[in-house]
Amino acid sequence: MTKSRQQAMTKLIRLDKLLGHSGEGTRKEIKNLCKSGSVTVNGSVCVDPATKVDFKKSVVAVDDRLVFYTPFHYVMLHKPENVLSATIDHFSRTVLDLLPSRYKGTGMFPVGRLDKDTTGLLLLTNDGDWAHRITSPKKEINKIYEAVVAGIIPDDINSQFQRGIVLNDGFLCQPALAEKIGDYALRIVIHEGKFHQIKRMCAAVGLTVTALRRIQIGQLMLDETLHYGEIRILTEEERELPFQ
Ligand code: URA
Repeated sequence: MTKSRQQAMTKLIRLDKLLGHSGEGTRKEIKNLCKSGSVTVNGSVCVDPATKVDFKKSVVAVDDRLVFYTPFHYVMLHKPENVLSATIDHFSRTVLDLLPSRYKGTGMFPVGRLDKDTTGLLLLTNDGDWAHRITSPKKEINKIYEAVVAGIIPDDINSQFQRGIVLNDGFLCQPALAEKIGDYALRIVIHEGKFHQIKRMCAAVGLTVTALRRIQIGQLMLDETLHYGEIRILTEEERELPFQ
């Protein structure tokens, strides 16, 4: 069990953690909120953000608005190009910069990585267990991509992918699928997540990937109504779809 899940199950937690996870701001913002007397616990003003509160029983409010403790968040992002799948970067925009400000103190991170120029389905959460179940190669969860390629697609590409492609560093990939869906387009299914894996698998059969987009994880499909850079919260049922 991850630290975040253990903390989520312990009844006593710091006030700033409860407020941060519930989307009330960064640690610094919450410190200031407390200092200003805006935060009450069971009806009394609480100025110390380190105060331990019972997240099941304590009644916490900010400016008289009740705060409902929400330890975990799960969202789907339609990742655009030119955005890094990272939590922080000094030079480029990251996928966290695309989240609304209410997620600031929640500890969200991307579930696995898509390259800067890859678009499509990216999940973000602060639930380490859930993320691990999706990314672990042992769980064999299918990740489905559409790739536009330059070069002649070999007739036997699917059998080559099924046998296991050997990457340029000698790594033998687990069996995958590659279906030709156009003269220069492939639908590829993998369940590992090695660095640049699809691009390197394609390179191994003489193809250069010129555009790549992820469309599905397990049975969870990219919501095509989302524009690039838009997010939406996953429903409880959708949270299980990656594992089906
Ligand atoms: N494979 C790649 O080469 N790039 C990605 O972004 C994802 C899978």
